[in-house]
Amino acid sequence: MLIHILGSAAGGGFPQWNCNCRNCSGLREGRLRAVARTQSSLCVRGDAGDWALVNASPDLLQQIKATPALQPGRAARDTGIAGVVLMDGQVDHTTGLYMLRELGRPLPLWCTDPVFEDLTRGNPILGVLGHFCGVARQAITLDGRAFQVPGVAGVRFTAVPLWSKPAPYSPHRENPQPGNNIGLLMVDEASGRSAFYAPGLGQRSEAADAAMRSADCVLVDGTFWRDDEMLALGLSSKRARDIGHLPQDGAGGMLEWLDSLPARTRKLLIHINNTNPILDEDSPQRAELARRGVEVAYDGLEVRL
Ligand code: MLT
Ligand code: MN
Ligand code: ZN
Repeated sequence: MLIHILGSAAGGGFPQWNCNCRNCSGLREGRLRAVARTQSSLCVRGDAGDWALVNASPDLLQQIKATPALQPGRAARDTGIAGVVLMDGQVDHTTGLYMLRELGRPLPLWCTDPVFEDLTRGNPILGVLGHFCGVARQAITLDGRAFQVPGVAGVRFTAVPLWSKPAPYSPHRENPQPGNNIGLLMVDEASGRSAFYAPGLGQRSEAADAAMRSADCVLVDGTFWRDDEMLALGLSSKRARDIGHLPQDGAGGMLEWLDSLPARTRKLLIHINNTNPILDEDSPQRAELARRGVEVAYDGLEVRL
């Protein structure tokens, strides 16, 4: 199984178009040792065959251009993307669906019922796509049953319900329902090796912990270093936990959780907000990650399992 990180930043990307925080201005002006990142998405395939796109970010066209394997060129119109799997219905994970409208046949799309509801009501992307390629929607269930994406050979997917936040246009924004946000366990059928992907993960739970423990590699919520990161910078009145993201630092934070995983687990932070000091490769926070054996995902990173 090959996982290719298309976008490792949170919503807004890095640098964010209208942001002049230390990271964004530092990167723009060449004062910061850091790399730009596009918004949250990855693709995965078995040892051969086509890819599943996991989340469709607003930067999807740029990500496809940067990833020649997604255009195998077998026909006048072609794509290496066999289907799309969504973790939630947020803008940064779904806007790229519009960019696939030229497909010419209904787009195979896996999402939970609450996400389907948000994408047909609060933000009716799927209805709009009905005027273009249309969508062949498959339900992701929360009963632990694995599913496959036809064309993606040798990879089994299982949804893991977890607590984060649905988008502001969801009727469940302040009262998340099971299925508003999921993590994805991806298992290579041949080797049995696995990865757990959860770009939005706001609370430790038994289900998420079991998935993390079972995986050879975790790619988990790296949005914020501190709970009050945006508050301290005067950029927002919301805390990390208010918007469904577990901060890395402090008691009960993501680093403590990652420390508790088996020593063999490869640990990667992903969906990193542009304000997060871990983006600065010379920061003490980045050094702390290195000490703990935690990596920071970047666009183009490949994980082979
Ligand atoms: C989030 O992860 O909290 C959202 O995607 C933020 C956003 O993109 O508006
Ligand atoms: Mn997001
Ligand atoms: Zn910024």
